[in-house]
Amino acid sequence: MDQNINMETISCADYEAHQKFEKEVIHGLKDNPKHLFSKYFYDQKGDVLFQQIMNMPEYYLTGCELEIFTDKKEEIAQAIKAFDTPFDLVELGAGDATKSSHLLEYLVDWKADFTYMPIDISGNIISVLQERLSKEIPTLDLIGLNGEYFEMLDKANSISSRRKVILFLGGNIGNMEVEEAYQFCSELRKKLNPGDILLIGFDLKKDPDIILSAYNDKAGITAAFNLNLLERINSELDARFDISKFKHYQTYDPLSGACRSYLISLEEQHVRIGNQFIDFKENEAIYMEISQKYAPEETDGMALKNGFQPVKYIADPKGWFIDAIWKVV
Ligand code: AVJ
Repeated sequence: MDQNINMETISCADYEAHQKFEKEVIHGLKDNPKHLFSKYFYDQKGDVLFQQIMNMPEYYLTGCELEIFTDKKEEIAQAIKAFDTPFDLVELGAGDATKSSHLLEYLVDWKADFTYMPIDISGNIISVLQERLSKEIPTLDLIGLNGEYFEMLDKANSISSRRKVILFLGGNIGNMEVEEAYQFCSELRKKLNPGDILLIGFDLKKDPDIILSAYNDKAGITAAFNLNLLERINSELDARFDISKFKHYQTYDPLSGACRSYLISLEEQHVRIGNQFIDFKENEAIYMEISQKYAPEETDGMALKNGFQPVKYIADPKGWFIDAIWKVV
């Protein structure tokens, strides 16, 4: 009986997610210019491709931030310690927590009084993480939260009123347009209290060739990652994209810091999705993703405009990536 109720709830949520996916895809492809949301890259195959991206020689972001979390964890720990008062360490989009687990170990060894609260949209990832960390760091207090960032932050606040330290790593804020990133910070601020801390990763503006090759790799993995969304649409929405009729095209604008990816239609074509047709002109683009790059000063501006005080940057040795530490004012 209980199990029945459970199954109904799950399939209902899946159904809603599917409806939303369909609606956003059709809307995006009928819009001018055509666009799709990069949040949809991460199906099972997309997850594997993203793992491969993180292992490519050209994709420096993951390595840079990992260096910060291995070599500078003491500096991070100092900055979030704040007179040794107990806290909740909330990670937005924790994933497999490869980077943060270095900090977790350090904090536990240091006998810091804290609870780790990883938030992730994937329930599977949360249970795998819970399982792994309970073996690797048995004394760690952990409460896994499966759901949307802001809803789960409300939940974290209802579970505990201790001060919050938020981790938002991986340069995930780069997947937002600058105005959206401001909006996000302002929403996040509303869920926090003065004295709370945010540690947020930004990929920095740098040699444009280095940035462009990170998203335009020779092996074509990024291209496959983008094209996989068309394959996902084929299998989940009964569509007929021929991915050999699209190519991946990447740009980087060193002035604005916007690094954008597109899929270009190689010919005029009409693609069926369910019972509708999407018309493509030859060379028409679908805008797929932004990976916004910032100058450190620009991140200060983002903090100050949204109710945070920038405290310090922690950079990798090459100075390509920063984790910025902001305090809520
Ligand atoms: C997961 C948003 C950090 O933009 O660098 C990598 C995603 N897209 N290669 C990024 C991505 C293409 C990545 N983030």
